[in-house]
Amino acid sequence: MDHFLYRNGTLYAEDVAVSEIAAAVGTPFYCYSTATLERHFRLFDSALDPLPHLVCFAMKSNSNQAILKTLARLGAGMDVVSGGEYARAKAAGVPGDRIVFSGVGKTAVEMRTALEGGIRQFNLESEPEMELLSAIAVSMGVVAPVTLRVNPDVDARTHAKIATGKSENKFGIPIARARDVYARAAGLPGLEVIGIDVHIGSQLTDLEPFEQAYLKVADLTAVLRADGHDIRRLDLGGGLGIPYTRSNIAPPLPSDYGDLIKRTVGDLGCEVEIEPGRLISGNAGIMVSAVIYVKNGEGRDFLILDGAMNDLIRPSMYDAHHDIVPVQEPAAGAEQAPVDIVGPVCESGDTFAKQRNMPPLASGDLVAFRSAGAYGAVMSSEYNTRPLIPEVLVNGDQFAVIRSRPTFDEMIARDNIPEWL
Ligand code: LLP
Repeated sequence: MDHFLYRNGTLYAEDVAVSEIAAAVGTPFYCYSTATLERHFRLFDSALDPLPHLVCFAMKSNSNQAILKTLARLGAGMDVVSGGEYARAKAAGVPGDRIVFSGVGKTAVEMRTALEGGIRQFNLESEPEMELLSAIAVSMGVVAPVTLRVNPDVDARTHAKIATGKSENKFGIPIARARDVYARAAGLPGLEVIGIDVHIGSQLTDLEPFEQAYLKVADLTAVLRADGHDIRRLDLGGGLGIPYTRSNIAPPLPSDYGDLIKRTVGDLGCEVEIEPGRLISGNAGIMVSAVIYVKNGEGRDFLILDGAMNDLIRPSMYDAHHDIVPVQEPAAGAEQAPVDIVGPVCESGDTFAKQRNMPPLASGDLVAFRSAGAYGAVMSSEYNTRPLIPEVLVNGDQFAVIRSRPTFDEMIARDNIPEWL
């Protein structure tokens, strides 16, 4: 459920007409709903009650400061994967003891920064990483709290580019080697081993792979405890999928996911963390774009938008489907015809949808890409020297630009001309 609904024939974001925002900021732009973000965070938070838990928002899905602050004031933790994300979390006022540091290639500088600024735990993914973190912690006279990310060799049944829990993926340590690696970690003076981490992939629409992974984690908890490790925290990753099409069978609800967690690991006496990104931010955002031209091609028509693959790369990169709806609600029973919906970038990959049924649209009309709040703005680029598009946050009847569109001069001024030119 989200808060982007038609009212009196036009699309609203909460209590603000999307066309009003378009008139104020120009197109294309991202628009987020505070109520949707808050609702989704609370769904996860209450789904884990009464277990001791922390919901750490995977801020790779949307790391705008205003989004982070909206969630942080509800008590959210943050899952960060880079020094930049750590700095953003801190800048948004998230205390270090609510930040977990994930990622397969943490650098020495990132480790040091997080140890200095405060960290809840590092989720470590390899032996060289364990050794480096231990050495840095020792040099600073501190001990780093860590979990080890295990790779449970489970098929997440999602797009290959976002599946992470099979043995051929680069992530985690093979679960079969976990006992040895935990023993090594426990012997390193700069580390305190506190738990287990697992994350098997993203956009999972079925609970079965989670169940398989979490049962393996439960077994491993018992084995590691018998080996003398004080396993008291389980980080169960993110990955619960969202409905990208209205017609789809809906993925499981956070409450079903919470029940699964309680059933599989709930009686181990551990504190539980989860790292949802997409399910909190995905349906809390739309991308709004205007039609530049309707072009009649050979045997097919094209809707050429002012938004492009650099603004929303998911369709080109993952063949992802986003519902695209006109901002002015079509009349009931309006005729629909198939069109290719494309951007102005100079490659054929700049295609959002092929032969998508749409009502008649004309130059200047606005369309909204639904479910664009996760992995939309954060994955955008300035390809073709197209400025990063603005982000707008709506809260009830108010809206604010939370990232503005740079001018061409600002973009060009970031380049430096060497003295020999
Ligand atoms: N935790 C870890 C360690 C992760 O790697 C990820 C996502 C998450 C949590 C959050 O997963 P979520 O709840 O958002 O599914 N760019 C792709 C998605 C990449 C996901 C990468 N890792 C897309 O647009 O679909």
